[in-house]
Amino acid sequence: MRVVFLSPRYPPEMRQFTRGLAEVGAEVLGVGDGHPEPELKRYLADYLEVPSIMNEEDVIGRVHNWLRGRTVDHILANWEPLVIVAARMRERFGLPGMSVDAVRGFRDKQLMKERVAAAGLRVPRSARVRSVKDVWSALEVTGYPAIIKPISGAGSADTYKVSSPKDMEKVLPYMQHVAEASCEEFIDGEEYTYDTVSIGGVPAYESVTRYFPNALEMRSNEWISPIMLSVRDLDQPHLRAGIELGRKVNAALGMGDGMSHMEWFRKPDGEVVFGEVACRPGGARVVDLMNYTSDIDLFREWARVSTTQTFGASRERKYNVGIIFKRAQGHGRISHMAGLTEYYQRYRPHIVEDTLFRPGTPRRDWKQTLLSDGYLVVRHPDWDEAKRMAFAAATDVQLYAS
Ligand SMILES: Nc1ncnc2c1ncn2[C@@H]1O[C@H](COP(=O)(O)OP(=O)(O)OP(=O)(O)O)[C@@H](O)[C@H]1O
Ligand SMILES: [Mg+2]
Repeated sequence: MRVVFLSPRYPPEMRQFTRGLAEVGAEVLGVGDGHPEPELKRYLADYLEVPSIMNEEDVIGRVHNWLRGRTVDHILANWEPLVIVAARMRERFGLPGMSVDAVRGFRDKQLMKERVAAAGLRVPRSARVRSVKDVWSALEVTGYPAIIKPISGAGSADTYKVSSPKDMEKVLPYMQHVAEASCEEFIDGEEYTYDTVSIGGVPAYESVTRYFPNALEMRSNEWISPIMLSVRDLDQPHLRAGIELGRKVNAALGMGDGMSHMEWFRKPDGEVVFGEVACRPGGARVVDLMNYTSDIDLFREWARVSTTQTFGASRERKYNVGIIFKRAQGHGRISHMAGLTEYYQRYRPHIVEDTLFRPGTPRRDWKQTLLSDGYLVVRHPDWDEAKRMAFAAATDVQLYAS
């Protein structure tokens, strides 16, 4: 089994997926920019360094030349900007896997909503906009409040909530560099994910994670310590409709083999509304959260599913797992921490990971990455207890920089 895997070294969790592929016995041919470090090289049978992994035409040409005379079984990518080019190469080389058209449904936020709506599922009212004129006519469809966001965005970049025409006037200058955007009805509700490892679009493993607060708020306010909490018990009435929605969305869009990551809302009246979906794993440590939830290795299971269409791990859910991202107060380097000793005294047995930046470490740009200045991961079989521990980490542990 020979597999081409795009960008095995970036983002960092791609190294884990590369390891997974090697561990299920695949010969991994990596393609990316930059050199793989020795630890990653152990899992790569070969590596093609390209000047820019984002230059689709160039990458396709180079891979084509590089593979000449070798047979390949799969071409895979788990990073959002590369899912289309992987599909283009599969089609070009006649390999199995999701088609370009199917992948576009997971990548283009307007197309995905149209396809999901056509399956009879609830999506926000929305329109594709390419000009200021489009925006004003779209707002007649969506009403206020509305959301404006790039068609192929990530990380809530260039995403704004607007509550009035005046608000929109203020936001428009910030959208000028975005060629295509989606204007949507704003959905007021709790935000969750629905994640899967799928075989032919059918979930072999499913997971739900709750955001505290909703993603846009965590991405817009530096003082917030964002929390993501995986739900151990998926059999709860308030989640049922969201999980059902997720299964139907994947079926409607033609999910294939691999991981999917959907976001959805639950309104106060119980209605569930589709947010967005991607045919790749969630970022911001979502895969680690699932692994800690069931004590399994989904990096490896993704590889198994992608190469042999089998799933080999336990589906038992043992814990609610919370990740709490911290952002220091002040600029520069971390100077000191407060509350961490007491936090350990209270919760030590339940803390499974601590990557909080220690004094001396330069701060990360919280706008660029949700990982911010590090995070804590805690877990507990009881939801309320897990939530309490996660919120305590948000409020009682503080980092300072100067
Ligand atoms: N129609 C909507 N109603 C309410 N909130 C929304 C809506 N669309 C987007 N949001 C908020 O903005 C966030 C970012 O939007 P979306 O998920 O579409 O973009 P993204 O940049 O791809 O996100 P990600 O951070 O997952 O990469 C959502 O998670 C949600 O909190
Ligand atoms: Mg999103």
